[in-house]
Amino acid sequence: MIKTRQYIKENKIRFLNELFEFIAIPSISSDSRCKTEMINAAEFLRESLINAGVDRAEICQTNGNPIVYAERILGDNCKTILIYGHYDVMPTEPLNEWKSDPFKPEIRDDAIWARGADDDKGQSFTHIKAFEAMNKCGELPCNVKFMFEGEEEIGSGSLSGWCKENKDKLKADVILLSDTSMMDEDIPSITCGLRGIAYFDVKVKGPNRDLHSGLYGGVVANPINVLASMIAKLTDDNGKITIPGFYDSVNEFSDEFRASINSAPFNEEEFKQSIGITAIYGEYGYTAIERRGIRPTLDLCGISGGYTSEGAKTIIPSYASAKISMRLVANQNYEKISEEFVKYFKSIAPEGVQVEIVSLHGGQPYMADHNSPAYIAASEAVTDVFGKAPVPFYSGGSIPIISSFEKELGIKSILLGFGLSSDAIHSPNENFRLSMFDKALETIPLFYKYYAEK
Ligand code: BES
Ligand code: ZN
Repeated sequence: MIKTRQYIKENKIRFLNELFEFIAIPSISSDSRCKTEMINAAEFLRESLINAGVDRAEICQTNGNPIVYAERILGDNCKTILIYGHYDVMPTEPLNEWKSDPFKPEIRDDAIWARGADDDKGQSFTHIKAFEAMNKCGELPCNVKFMFEGEEEIGSGSLSGWCKENKDKLKADVILLSDTSMMDEDIPSITCGLRGIAYFDVKVKGPNRDLHSGLYGGVVANPINVLASMIAKLTDDNGKITIPGFYDSVNEFSDEFRASINSAPFNEEEFKQSIGITAIYGEYGYTAIERRGIRPTLDLCGISGGYTSEGAKTIIPSYASAKISMRLVANQNYEKISEEFVKYFKSIAPEGVQVEIVSLHGGQPYMADHNSPAYIAASEAVTDVFGKAPVPFYSGGSIPIISSFEKELGIKSILLGFGLSSDAIHSPNENFRLSMFDKALETIPLFYKYYAEK
């Protein structure tokens, strides 16, 4: 891979300029006003893939945002790597907290600052450029297929159906993606577990209009009071979730496994300081590493209702609503958990209010195989570039489509992410450290090389 390395070095500035063009497209999948931008981002990827030298690249229409598919096939005697990534990004609010425009990427403090700089435009783009380098230098050792979607941040609604319909086209030996993080730049890691998710929008409806809180207070169930107390009932003082049956299928890991994941370095003081909190919080009896990686959680992502503008307004609101997400772990099933949640949440509502529950999305947890030839190849590549063997990392995040790939296509994934926790994904001031961008470009070709040799 000597020529590939040289090519990357010589073309680094151009790669960054192209990435900046990609990032500048505000492809926010949850925002219905961004439909054209979704198409533009997909088109950008298709052109980049063509310029990188794929045999063909196409935009596949779905009921949602388009999927970009491309391939470069050398022959039947080569292994096939299927690259996955997403071109959609999260919304940017609160905008006033950004130090620079989220869609005008800039380099400061050795990082790229913009929405999508890491998640997942920056990380996805390294795969196109690593491929371009190997391909143009005649050092590509494997067949490659690319599949980029524009709905990951809203639950990948179109992709699993599309995979089912395109099983033959997507035949591959392994799926490779960079949409996760490492523990730190000097603690290289490969993600071995992702949590599942079940996400709901709940609404408590009371009177048919906002009421005077003096004239009606005391005789009408206030939807905000009710919602707050229902939410409080979802967890107990030990940080356990109270939904009946919730823990029934949670995999209780062996002491040996728990000790092994807990041996990964975790500096609690640094962690607290990095996010400005004074104490960590969570389920009694589990360490921070376990709470985040192998235990399920329930969090409110948003809450609204009543009067929130300037000054005081004395009302009993007509309704209140909240967004509730549960992160799930092996072997929980999100469909079953969803049913249990809906049943329980309705059962704790008092008389006098109506409860509406809408499921926004969900997905199953994923456990990687850390003995497979592909995992070993990834581990060797990371060791070469970072100078240390990677630690298996049980991440708290979710990429629900990864378990669908396993179910629909029968292919396991390698989660070779280059993000860092300081990248602030989903937050204001998202960034991607340039040294990690460089290391991704170095690691990916080595993965191809080692995997081809297995
Ligand atoms: N890239 C993240 C997931 C991630 C980040 C996993 C870091 C592990 C480490 C992905 O884009 C994401 O944010 N996924 C959503 C999924 C959800 C919307 C279904 C998530 O985890 O909230
Ligand atoms: Zn994300």
